[in-house]
Amino acid sequence: MTETALRSSGAYADAVAAAVQAAAAYYTDGVTPLGDDEYDALVRAIAAYEDAHPDEVLPDSPTGKVAGGAVVGDVPHSVPMLSLDNVFSAEELADWAAGLERRLGRAPAGWCVEPKLDGLAVAARYRGGKLERVLTRGDGLAGEDISHAAEAVLGLPAVLTEPVDVELRGEVLLTTAQFEEANRIRLAHEAPPFVHPRSGAAGTLRAKDRPYRIELTFFAYDAVGLDEESAHSARLERLAALGANTAASTAAAPLRCGSVEEVQQRVEEIAALRSRLPFGIDGVVIKADDAGDRRAAGSGSRAPRWAVARKLAAEHKVTRLLGVEWAVGRTGIIAPRAVLEPVVIDGVTVTYATLHNPADITRRGLMLGDQVFVYRAGDVIPRVEAPLVEQRTGEERPIVFPEVCPRCGDAIDASEQRWRCVRSRNCQAVASIVYAAGRDQLDIEGLGATRAVQLVESGLVNDIADLFTLTRDQLMTLERMGETSTVNLLAAIETARTRPLNRALCALGIRGTGRSMSRRIAAHFGSMAAIRAADAEALAGVDGMGPEKARVMVGELVELAPLLDRLAALGVGTAVTEPTAPRPVEAAEAAGADGAAPADVAAAAGTGPLSGEAVVVTGSMTGPLAALSRNEMNELIERAGGKASSSVSKRTTLLVAGEKAGSKRAKAEELAIRILTPDEFAALVAEHLPAA
Ligand code: IVH
Repeated sequence: MTETALRSSGAYADAVAAAVQAAAAYYTDGVTPLGDDEYDALVRAIAAYEDAHPDEVLPDSPTGKVAGGAVVGDVPHSVPMLSLDNVFSAEELADWAAGLERRLGRAPAGWCVEPKLDGLAVAARYRGGKLERVLTRGDGLAGEDISHAAEAVLGLPAVLTEPVDVELRGEVLLTTAQFEEANRIRLAHEAPPFVHPRSGAAGTLRAKDRPYRIELTFFAYDAVGLDEESAHSARLERLAALGANTAASTAAAPLRCGSVEEVQQRVEEIAALRSRLPFGIDGVVIKADDAGDRRAAGSGSRAPRWAVARKLAAEHKVTRLLGVEWAVGRTGIIAPRAVLEPVVIDGVTVTYATLHNPADITRRGLMLGDQVFVYRAGDVIPRVEAPLVEQRTGEERPIVFPEVCPRCGDAIDASEQRWRCVRSRNCQAVASIVYAAGRDQLDIEGLGATRAVQLVESGLVNDIADLFTLTRDQLMTLERMGETSTVNLLAAIETARTRPLNRALCALGIRGTGRSMSRRIAAHFGSMAAIRAADAEALAGVDGMGPEKARVMVGELVELAPLLDRLAALGVGTAVTEPTAPRPVEAAEAAGADGAAPADVAAAAGTGPLSGEAVVVTGSMTGPLAALSRNEMNELIERAGGKASSSVSKRTTLLVAGEKAGSKRAKAEELAIRILTPDEFAALVAEHLPAA
């Protein structure tokens, strides 16, 4: 984060005004032209200026106030609802912990580390176990009554499991799924979509008389009048037992840590989990766990001294939509892509973002020049959420939709949400041929983009099947095609003709049939003719296919039928399919089959060094595995008797983690899954490695 120092009282006054305006928006409807990171940086610059010029502090300065002094309410809180001090790095966290230790004269007996939920703080008062009143935090001393909204908040029960008098404190938010559902509902009611889950939660809590209902979720993180002498972590367990929702039900569950080192480690773990959590977090909260330590540390007027927030960089940023590009995919889909004023989100410069489809652009009411909310979490491709309509200057221009296919100029089929060139695959003949010739498909050496353009433009090739009818004389007519290149290309095409069925199928680029699905389909049906004849029911029988995918695939197969027939007639894809992880019955049957190569037997029988293992590969491979593509790694795993998969889950038993392994490694560590280096893995499967 870049911190700009304020150099004059004028700059200081402007900064205070900007922060007051942003805080008002943040804590009311949450729509602010300033991102969270920028707001934090602004408040830090204001605080630095005030430290140096204590007699110039303006009365409306946000420093030292709960909610930046932005909001007030009219119902007094039983005890003040405080905010938290922030730290922004591991060093600042270590300094903060050392400061607390000095104040206590001892190290705290334990810490509780929990997610900092990105929503709105509320206090929920129960009498005799029944929910009586729900308040916002307001200015920390008094809040606004939002009891009317409680019914739509999951995790905030109307009745607790015991008839206690207690005030739950926690955060109300829209989970990612609730945010998406909320925007579906809003768009259906022609209401502008929420730009951000927090603003959606803020607006929903305060709204009355809406013609639709939006569900929210409550997470309790504290309580007034409950087991005040117990450790914080134990009180959280008690809150859950009373029926309140807590973060204990999530992967980022609160954890008691014995030392600052353990705290730092848990902070890293929660940060690594962030993109996979089903709700937004903007940091990690670290609290002294024991009641005695909390009492001894005490609280200031704004924040307790026994807790701190380790802030994480924002995943949402506001930037300008500069343009929209229309790209045509391999299957003729015409997809819009947002061109953005570059913005750094969590350390990565984002220039492009997904815009889904034309109907979505219309529904969201986006215009060129708009300030837009852009969201990027972990590995997820950034996406444009919605425009900040209040920020419009009148200079914005409508987004122009293409009237013809931007690639070939033919008509557009706009009958579905996703637009498509009427020529479908043929529009992208070149791209399709380059894809088919790729290493993981038919692996035709010497057939790159330049050669493919030449072949298509000369009219010799319109689709993949045409490749297999090419003659020496035809090729020799092409520019820069000498005797040697011709002989080599024809030989490579001949080799491609003998590639197994799964590769020929994969080469067709059918939606939803990547490399491993192609292997499964090929193993299931055994021939191109059987695949071509399959209906949705038969396709749904393929391991991992599911009825929806099967339905889409049948549509594609109908479209591709003439091509499939020609490929079969040309003898393409008739070789034995590469092995796929066995299902139990087939494995037993295949184990005794004659004529299978030794490696196939290992896979089919579920024997071999990886028998019973579910393996995921991540990071770049080195040593004996350096030259293998992901597909070849997966083939190797299956030859050695294992099952390859692309994502880490509870079912995963082994992770091969190469250099720059990221979130998959973190998840595997969290699930205590065995992790091997590429070298260790190569040694394990040595007898199945492809010959060098
Ligand atoms: S403890 C006196 N725990 O973050 C203790 N707050 O930026 C005060 N928040 O006002 C709060 N997750 O609205 C606490 N696990 C958590 C939290 C959490 C989110 C919010 C809360 C607080 C704000 C401070």
